[in-house]
Amino acid sequence: MANFTIISELGRGGFGLVHQVRDASGAMFARKTFQINQNFTPTPDFLQQLKKRFEREARLQSGVMHKNIVPILEKYLDVDPPNFIMPLASSSLDRDIQVDRYLGGNYLGAISDIIAGLEELHSMKIYHRDLKPANVLRFGLPQDGSGFYAISDFGLIALKQTQVSQLTTVGMRMSSDFYTAPEITQDFSLASHASDIYSLGCILHDFVGTESRVPCSEIREPGPYSAILLSCTRKDPLRRFKSVSEVREAILGVGVGVNLPAALGGAAGILTLLNSSTPLTSGDALHLADYIEDNQGTQDVYAIFKSLSQNRIDEILLFSLPISRRIAISYADWIRKNSFIFAECDGLAFRLQEFLKLPDIEVQSECLLALLLMGTSHNRWYVERMFFSYVGSQLHNDLARRLAVEFRADKERVLYAIAHMENSISVTRHNLHQMLRDALL
Ligand SMILES: Nc1ncnc2c1ncn2[C@@H]1O[C@H](COP(=O)(O)OP(=O)(O)O)[C@@H](O)[C@H]1O
Ligand SMILES: [Mg+2]
Repeated sequence: MANFTIISELGRGGFGLVHQVRDASGAMFARKTFQINQNFTPTPDFLQQLKKRFEREARLQSGVMHKNIVPILEKYLDVDPPNFIMPLASSSLDRDIQVDRYLGGNYLGAISDIIAGLEELHSMKIYHRDLKPANVLRFGLPQDGSGFYAISDFGLIALKQTQVSQLTTVGMRMSSDFYTAPEITQDFSLASHASDIYSLGCILHDFVGTESRVPCSEIREPGPYSAILLSCTRKDPLRRFKSVSEVREAILGVGVGVNLPAALGGAAGILTLLNSSTPLTSGDALHLADYIEDNQGTQDVYAIFKSLSQNRIDEILLFSLPISRRIAISYADWIRKNSFIFAECDGLAFRLQEFLKLPDIEVQSECLLALLLMGTSHNRWYVERMFFSYVGSQLHNDLARRLAVEFRADKERVLYAIAHMENSISVTRHNLHQMLRDALL
């Protein structure tokens, strides 16, 4: 093992031992070491398999680069016992929940972080299988805005079903049934995005649940999150949300349409319509575009935009381009000029991304600028990363030229935002499209 001094034990599981360690320079890290539980003596063959599994865990986890996935900084897999080094977390979600179930009011921020991490895993067809608060670690302090949660413990991702069976026959149960989807308690090969969504629902329940729940069952209880909890935890995986982004979208919709100021004059009809399941007509869309433009900056428009779900946006995009682009431009402007609850930003960015699909350079450029300014002013890493994914050398020249104009027009703010982004998501402006780089000089 490299030069690390053990400071204390942080955790111990079936085959891993986690220590806080210090390197020669005095910096602190967490080290996970392969270790078999003392009550269990595997055959030499099986021991080899478990070691391989540990190596696979380390390789997989170190291959994913995402703020909401705990990184592996160094791995020592050819030594005995194999081990790897991670940044040292400040706490874990289960400990934080024990201190304060609502995380000082920021529980939806934690859920957003978990959703962002899962979205990344699922996009690579990786399913976590053991998502629970003990495997979600906190980095930074919750109070100063730098804190965030990241998913860890890829131990079960790499475990084969045959190995699970062997372990259960020797009495080592998976200890996480409390958050595990019913279909994978018997057969690990049935893991899918839906089994992680089940666990996500259980974690959401830890925050917003009104009644105690039974492991491996559907969550049925009253309250504003009732439908979301049920759609996460349906017994039949096919009946759950289709993706974690759908869960995010549904959470964003909670409370919309209630508590709206009573004074909403002309907006009341529009809001009722938007929050209903009635399809929009092109006349509705035109009325919406007019209303929004005539009432910019008002509470009414704020309420309307909050009610504009992803599905509604998709519906609007099907109407004529002149109408949909007007709504899109107003929406981007609204995103740019308002501040939002931290936890809402990811979902709003996701909606903004729908408008980005419009084949219109002005709309696209406004939406990109809105992403940049919202992401950086709210310190929302997910949004900054979304912005950055669009604006590399692959960006269409016409769009780059247009966005460069916006950059020059609001240079001071954009320079600040770009510097913020470089710092928070560790990217550099050198990877921006050439025309955008030039606009920053
Ligand atoms: N990077 C880390 N920083 C601080 N504590 C950690 C870190 N990684 C793990 N731990 C602690 O060790 C416990 C066990 O680690 P985990 O990777 O979940 O292994 P296991 O397979 O044993 O569950 C975690 O629940 C957490 O409390
Ligand atoms: Mg664990």
